[in-house]
Amino acid sequence: MTPFSEYMEWAKTRSAARFNLASSGVAAFPLAELPARIEDLEISGDSAYGYPPLQERLARKAGVDPDRIVHATGTSMANFLVLAAAADAGDEVLIEEPAYSLLVDAARWLRLDVRRFARRAEEGFRVDPRQVERALSPRTRLVVLTNLHNPSSAFTSPEDLRAVGEAARSVGALVLVDEVYLESLAVLGRPSGSASHLGPGFVVTSSLTKAYGLSGLRCGWAVADPDLARRMWRLNDLFGVIPAHPAERLSIVALDHLDLIAARARAILEANTDGANAFLATRPDLACPPVDGGIIAFPRLLRGDVESLCRRLRERHETTVVPGRFFGAPSHFRLALGCSRETFEEGLERLARALDEA
Ligand SMILES: Cc1ncc(COP(=O)(O)O)c(C=O)c1O
Repeated sequence: MTPFSEYMEWAKTRSAARFNLASSGVAAFPLAELPARIEDLEISGDSAYGYPPLQERLARKAGVDPDRIVHATGTSMANFLVLAAAADAGDEVLIEEPAYSLLVDAARWLRLDVRRFARRAEEGFRVDPRQVERALSPRTRLVVLTNLHNPSSAFTSPEDLRAVGEAARSVGALVLVDEVYLESLAVLGRPSGSASHLGPGFVVTSSLTKAYGLSGLRCGWAVADPDLARRMWRLNDLFGVIPAHPAERLSIVALDHLDLIAARARAILEANTDGANAFLATRPDLACPPVDGGIIAFPRLLRGDVESLCRRLRERHETTVVPGRFFGAPSHFRLALGCSRETFEEGLERLARALDEA
């Protein structure tokens, strides 16, 4: 059977709406606002295993040596390369639940034996290192989690990550931390503590997609130890061989002006975080901890059914959120904070109306 992602197909074909609160990143940063000149671009360049000027900038951003950086087509490809390079068919991977379903779909397509560890709603979806430890087996090659957590934005502290790393090391497994949402803490000027500094047992993936609104650049990367990084580069030869060079050049311009891009994202996130928290405080029918630094929230609907709510919201109120079933948590829905302030405010009003109609 042709492998596919049910969620991605839904996101691409059914999430669009006049008030789209189903997106996953900050609203697209316009090219016209990027201080790029035509001389900054070129069609083809010297990209073999990474375009050196881009490798250097990504390494500087991550605070590691360039030989630990694998530039990839978004966090998506970076995750795929890590899964494929760190585990063989039949090996066990232990993935958080609820999860961004593409991680699970990609692992299954690679014929990895997918096991899950729970992040419990009652505990704010925190990673409990003991849960991870209990779920490990001698066949586990990789533990996979997101920080901030997609869908809940729960933060995992370096201490908890270290405890997960130690448990993983005891069975010879690595820990993959998808940090695409951790960038939102950087945007907000808050310390974030990347797992890439916690030792060779950690592999980190990220991109400029979510927190900066630069999805179209597909500027993703993995931070791995140099041996694993080399395996990932070789594996990438089987797919795109080299990235689109103009995108590499534009990524360099973006990285050189990240403060400017972050300032726009910060204004959006700060305003919408206040709006989201004010809204959540007025809703006895939703359970959700206050948003604290993320781009998405994952309220639990306490009365009624999420699928009906989503249908009403779309059909009567031209508004979308992501049904929790895509993350394996059907009594929740995911609410995005990255859209413009006007869209967000109006979208929340419409969400309130749809909830009141239950
Ligand atoms: C946890 C997580 N990882 C990766 C991605 C894909 O990101 P990118 O656009 O960088 O490929 C997403 C997108 O929603 C995501 O939520």
